[in-house]
Amino acid sequence: MDSLKRIEWGDVFVLGNETMDKEHEGLVNIHNKLVDIVNTKEGTRKKIAEILSELSDAGLRHFQAEELLMDKEDYPNAMEHKRQHRDFIYNVSLYNVNLMGDNPPKAEEIVNFLHDWLLHHIKNHDTEFEIYLEGQN
Ligand SMILES: [Fe+2]
Ligand SMILES: [Fe+2]
Repeated sequence: MDSLKRIEWGDVFVLGNETMDKEHEGLVNIHNKLVDIVNTKEGTRKKIAEILSELSDAGLRHFQAEELLMDKEDYPNAMEHKRQHRDFIYNVSLYNVNLMGDNPPKAEEIVNFLHDWLLHHIKNHDTEFEIYLEGQN
């Protein structure tokens, strides 16, 4: 297996909102921690599950803050955006549960999902929200 790629902070669109950027960087860092342990073959199921729990906790905290701001600012695309957040938490939790089952998902599949989701969501959906916020002020 080729080694999996970390997300470098420059790959992520920096929105210019300090709190959001910091939280996104935090999520990216947890993703990278997972990449590192998988690449060094230390990615036991238990270790991967621990990192996924950390990611869903940090994700939930971040999504709650982002959604609060959406409600406060009457963001018109809030419903679809929130659905994406729920989807992420659902998928991460499902991976976590399945890791303990008889047919565990491959670490590579989990990392690819996280990689694509984080990059796509931040670059497109969070950016769109940030542009809306800037227009409001
Ligand atoms: Fe976000
Ligand atoms: Fe978001």
